[in-house]
Amino acid sequence: MGAKSTTDRYGAVAVTIHWLSALLILVMVGSGFRADAMEDPAGKAAILRVHVPVGMAVLLLTLGRIGWWLWADSKPASVAMAPWQDRASRIVHCLFYVVILGMAASGIGMMVLSGAAPIIFGGSTETLPDFWEFRPRVPHGIGARILILLFVLHAGAALHHHFSRHDGLLARMWYGPSTKPD
Ligand code: HEM
Ligand code: HEM
Repeated sequence: MGAKSTTDRYGAVAVTIHWLSALLILVMVGSGFRADAMEDPAGKAAILRVHVPVGMAVLLLTLGRIGWWLWADSKPASVAMAPWQDRASRIVHCLFYVVILGMAASGIGMMVLSGAAPIIFGGSTETLPDFWEFRPRVPHGIGARILILLFVLHAGAALHHHFSRHDGLLARMWYGPSTKPD
């Protein structure tokens, strides 16, 4: 399996970015909701010490991924499916990019407007601000819920292909030999 994708499967770079991003996004959703629910400011700051840098890593991975698809690699051809399913999958993939970038932008916006970074990272003894006082908190919360919806649709479709259609769709987003001879 090469670094780049072929007509029938994803390459090692795309597979690595996909699964690493998926894992980190799960960490982001879990840590984000925990931070929101945390009453104790020190506990909230501790969670945000994970949430913020991991979020920046997700942003860099996503920008790298967009650059990779634009300038270095091309996606494999779709597996056989109804045209509406093909269109739906493209829309969901595209929305993932938009929502992830929106989450990163609104997260950075909250940090800049609130000036909370020195409290979270610099040992400042001030108490954390209420992030709800800053406008990007609202789209950040909405975006998180849209991301979960996209995740359910996307993972559900992938599992349907794997367990009901047996069409190799999940396998081609994993490491391994080409599923068809070139
Ligand atoms: C938040 C987590 C996830 C995100 C953001 C995500 C995003 C994406 C995106 C954007 C693509 C299109 C390829 C690309 O642009 O790199 C893709 C493809 C794919 N994803 Fe995910 N994904 C996630 C989780 C999952 C999970 C949990 C599964 C399996 C249960 C999965 C299975 C697949 C498969 C099989 C493909 C290839 C579809 C094809 O062959 O055309 N993804 N994913
Ligand atoms: C893919 C990227 C991200 C995801 C999936 C994500 C997810 C979440 C979630 C689920 C919440 C809780 C939402 C709610 O309760 O309504 C949250 C809150 C928050 N996130 Fe993110 N986030 C991301 C990126 C970022 C970034 C890059 C930053 C900062 C630079 C950030 C800073 C925050 C802050 C300050 C809160 C508010 C916590 C509170 O209200 O107590 N997030 N995030």
